[in-house]
Amino acid sequence: MNTLFSPAKIGGVELKNRIVMSPMCMYSVHKEDGIVTPWHVTHYVSRAVGQAGLILLESTAVLPEGRISVRDLGIWEDSQVPALTALVEAIHEAGSKAGIQLGHAGRKTTAADKGVAPSPVAFPDMPVPEELTAEGIAQVIAAFAAAARRAVLAGFDVVELHAAHGYLLNEFLSPLTNHRQDQYGGSRENRFTLLRQVIEAVKREKPRSLFVRISAEEYATGGNTREDILYFAREMKALGVDLIDTSTGGVVLADIKYYPGYQVPYAAEIRKEAGIATGAVGLISTGGYAEEVLASDQADLIFIGRAFLRDPYWPRTAAAELGISIKAPAPYERGWVTRA
Ligand SMILES: Cc1cc2nc3c(=O)[nH]c(=O)nc-3n(C[C@H](O)[C@H](O)[C@H](O)COP(=O)(O)O)c2cc1C
Repeated sequence: MNTLFSPAKIGGVELKNRIVMSPMCMYSVHKEDGIVTPWHVTHYVSRAVGQAGLILLESTAVLPEGRISVRDLGIWEDSQVPALTALVEAIHEAGSKAGIQLGHAGRKTTAADKGVAPSPVAFPDMPVPEELTAEGIAQVIAAFAAAARRAVLAGFDVVELHAAHGYLLNEFLSPLTNHRQDQYGGSRENRFTLLRQVIEAVKREKPRSLFVRISAEEYATGGNTREDILYFAREMKALGVDLIDTSTGGVVLADIKYYPGYQVPYAAEIRKEAGIATGAVGLISTGGYAEEVLASDQADLIFIGRAFLRDPYWPRTAAAELGISIKAPAPYERGWVTRA
């Protein structure tokens, strides 16, 4: 049975438990150079000390014009690798595995005068993006591959592609933003072409484990259907993706009803229908609920976002709630177990 503190093997990576720190942009780069700062080290390593099984770094840009903001982390050039390597070492020393989310903001960038997109359709209150040419698409694929190569070089155990929340890869998947008439647009097969080519290129760099985050629901008419999402999931499984991190929304502005586990049914359905491991995310904030999602076979991993911002030792808190004691980092053993 899946339980929160049971180990998991996803792709070639073994996690000591099923708790993942969900990728969260810190917008904390100092010099618009995309390089890790002391803030990032403190932020990520403290959650590793807190016993997350996997620390997944925030959306890290594969091209400067693919940043969400000028303060994003970047992995578009080799000079950004040494600080990432040091961060991975620190996460490993604290006992967690390390992953990085590779992203391109597409039409939602604020780091360039205007973004690029499958079609010249603007996100509300943002400039009309430039439609990517075939050459531009080839550059994007090459940039994701080069970023994956750098991530592997830096020692990351997991690479996650950000194909959710209305950023570039998601814009190609969605009929709401992709109006192309070439092989990258139209049918669901064609809309999947860019993500397929990015996955193939990234796989050639041999990440030990490859995750893809998708938006499984667009909360808008004309968006991807359940069948579209299951098609994408089955194709990803066939391409050797190890886990689908199941989020929703962000392609268009929508009225989303948030409640604990609002995205869990999508993780459960993809897991069941496509036979691929999934991560569940979204307002999962107690150990009891995280355990319930796993034990009822709705997901393989639990991604924790904002609860980790409130409590860097969330795994310890969740374990205490479940009446379990978990191993402390050796230097903390004397203080880890609360005695009456
Ligand atoms: C400050 C902040 C930054 C975020 N940045 C990212 C990001 O870089 N990539 C991503 O896929 N999701 C991002 N998210 C979404 C989270 O990963 C997560 O999916 C979402 O917050 C729902 O989970 P939660 O209810 O546990 O916070 C961000 C969320 C927050 C609160």
